[in-house]
Amino acid sequence: MKYDINKLTLDEKLNLLMGDGAWKTSSANGKLRQVVVADGPSGLRKMYGKSETETETATAMPTLSIVASTWDEELARLDGATIADDCIEHGVDVLLAPGANVKRTPLNGRNFEYLSEDPYLAGTMARGFINGVQEKGIGTSLKHYAANNREIYRLSQSSEIGERALREIYLRPFEIAVKAQPWTVMCSYNAVNGVLAAENGYLLKEILRDTFGFEGLIVSDWGAVYEAFRSVKATLDLRMPQDKRHAEQLKEALDKGYITMDDIDYCVNNVLKLIEKAETAEKKIETTKEQRHENAVNIAKAGMVLLKNEDNILPLKNSGNYFVAGGVAIDPVIGGIGSALVQTEYKQKPLGELLAEKLPNADIQSSENPHINTWAVRRRAYLAYLKNSLVKAYGKDAVIIGVNGEEEGESFDRRSIRLEKEYELIIKEFAKYNKNIIVLLNVGSAIDVSPWIDDVKAVLYTGFSGEGINEAAASILVGETNPSGKLAETFPICLYDTYTGEEVGNGFVESYTDGVFVGYRHYDKYDLDVAFPFGFGLSYSKFKYDNLRIEKVGECDYKVLFDVENISGIGGAEVAQLYIKEVFPMVERPEKELKGFKKVFLKAGEKKTVEIELNYRSFAYYLTPYKRWHVQNDIYEIMVGASSRDIRLQKSVKIELPPETQQSQINKNIAE
Ligand code: GLC
Repeated sequence: MKYDINKLTLDEKLNLLMGDGAWKTSSANGKLRQVVVADGPSGLRKMYGKSETETETATAMPTLSIVASTWDEELARLDGATIADDCIEHGVDVLLAPGANVKRTPLNGRNFEYLSEDPYLAGTMARGFINGVQEKGIGTSLKHYAANNREIYRLSQSSEIGERALREIYLRPFEIAVKAQPWTVMCSYNAVNGVLAAENGYLLKEILRDTFGFEGLIVSDWGAVYEAFRSVKATLDLRMPQDKRHAEQLKEALDKGYITMDDIDYCVNNVLKLIEKAETAEKKIETTKEQRHENAVNIAKAGMVLLKNEDNILPLKNSGNYFVAGGVAIDPVIGGIGSALVQTEYKQKPLGELLAEKLPNADIQSSENPHINTWAVRRRAYLAYLKNSLVKAYGKDAVIIGVNGEEEGESFDRRSIRLEKEYELIIKEFAKYNKNIIVLLNVGSAIDVSPWIDDVKAVLYTGFSGEGINEAAASILVGETNPSGKLAETFPICLYDTYTGEEVGNGFVESYTDGVFVGYRHYDKYDLDVAFPFGFGLSYSKFKYDNLRIEKVGECDYKVLFDVENISGIGGAEVAQLYIKEVFPMVERPEKELKGFKKVFLKAGEKKTVEIELNYRSFAYYLTPYKRWHVQNDIYEIMVGASSRDIRLQKSVKIELPPETQQSQINKNIAE
C-alpha cells in the first residue's frame, strides 16, 4: 500500500478515524490526500454552506425508486455513471449512495430514495448503480446498513428482527450489492436487535465483512456513532462528521484496554486504502451537461409506470384539444427533501408547452400554477383556481392533471398515503364535467388511489423523476415513448391493508413481526387485493408469453427459457419476471418470491426467447438453527409473469439433493 501506517503518530491515526469537518477525511497533518465525500442517490449534492440550499448545482437525476422501476440494471449503471461525471467535475471522490433499504411501509419518508420492497430487485439495481459510479473512478457508499425502514425515530428506535427476516429480506439487498465491492458501506442510525448499527459487530464484521465478503471501509451515518470505542471494536472505520471527542475517547479506551492498537490499525488501514483508491482511480468525464440531462430524461422515460389506460385514451391525438391542470404540471416535484435533494440549474418547460410542441395541430390550454402552498391561500387559491380552470377545461377531449401527495423526505414519514386533499377534490370536480381525466402521479412512493381511480381514464406514475420529469412525461403521453416501467413496490388499496398500517413503534423498539412477509409477500399471504401489484406496468404494446421449458444443468442449477412475443403493431419493452414457490415447506414461506427478471425489447411482431438461470440460492431459505442457507428437497413451482399478480406460464420441478449435498451445503456459506 502506498501509505505506510508506521509513519503516522498515534494522534494522527486516531484523527484519521473521523472526518475533518463534515465532508472530508483527515490529512494527518498534511501527510495524506484528503478524500472528499458528498451525497446523493439522485445526483451530486455538494454542500458549500450550512443551509439546505447552499449546494453546488448538478444534474438532478430521477430518484432511485424510478430507476428501480426501469427493471434495467444497465440503466442503473448509466444513472451511476452520469452522476459520477458531476462528481469528477466538482472534485468529489465518493458519492454517498445508493440507498438500498427494503420498503417495508409506504409511509417511510425516504422511500423515494430507495429501490424496492423486494430484496432481489433492490440488490440487483443497487449493484448496477455502484458499478456505474465506480467504473468512472468514483467511490460509492451503500446505505443505510441496516434495517432503517422508517424515518420517524430513526435516531433512537431499535429494529427488532428475527434472523430469517434479516437474512432473507433486510440484509439481502446489501449481500447482492456488495458483490460490486462499493468503496464504502454506510451504517444506519438505528439499532438492530438492541445494538446500534454503528456498534454492531455482528452486522458489520460477522455478516458484512466475513460472510458477505465486503472489503472496503465502513462509514457511519452522520452522527450515528455514540460510543467511540464500541464502534471501532465493531470495525466501523470512519466516524462522520468530525467529533473532537473521538480521538480522546479512543485514547482513553486504549489506555483502559477496551480496544487494542490492532483494532485501531485495522480501521486506519481501511481509511488508508480508501485514500489510495481515491488517489489512484482513473477518473474520466465522458458526458457534457446536455448529455447528462438527456440521460436523466431517458431514465425517467424508462422508469415511469403507466398504471391505467382505459379506452386507450393514451397516447394523446395530434388533432385533440386538451386542458392541462395542476401546479405540478408547471412546477413538478423533482426529488424528495433532505440529503438527496439536488439543486439543478435546468429550468423545465411546463408540461402544456411540451405537449404543444409535440402535438402542433392539437389545441392545448393550461391552467396557471394554483400555488396551493399554505392553508389560507390553499382554500382561496383552490376555489378560485377550480372555478377558473373548470370553465377552461369544459368540453375538452381530455384533461391532464398533475398531482402530489404529502411532502416526502429525510427525517420524517408521511402520515397518510393519500394525495393532497385539494388534488383529490380537483380530480373529482374535473371528473364531474369531463369523463376523460388523465392523472400524472408526481409522488415518491405508493399512493392510495381508491377515492378517485374509478373517475379517471388514465394514470401515469411519474414519480420524482428529476429535471427531465416533464419531458419524459410528455414523451410518453404523446406516444413518442412507449412506457415500459413496472412498479418496484405494491400500491395497496389503502394504508390499513399494509402490515403496519399507521403504527410506528414506540420510539424505542419496533418489532418486525411480519417476518419475511414484506410487500407483495404480505399481500399474497393474506390474499389481499391491491390497487396495483408489484411488477405491474402497462405498455402501448401487447405481449404474449409462451413455450416455457426448464433445463436442469447442474445438481441444483436450472435454465428457464420462455418466449415473449410483441403481438401489437408498436415496438416496446416488456419486463418478464420469474417467481418461485416451494410447495411443502418446513417453514412458512411466501406464496412467491422474485428470483429473476429480464427486460426484453421487441419490435412489432417480434418474438424472443428469454433465458433466466437459477441456482441453489434461488430455491433456498435461511435455516436459522444451522445459520445457513438451505434447499429442502421438495417440489418447486416456477412462475413466469408480467407482474406478481399476472403469472402467464408455470411449471414445477422436483428437487432431490442427496444427503451429502444437503450436509455440505449446510456446512458452508452458500454464496449466491
Ligand atoms: C444523512 C443521511 C445520509 C447522508 C448523510 C450525509 O443523515 O441519513 O443518507 O448521506 O447524512 O448527508
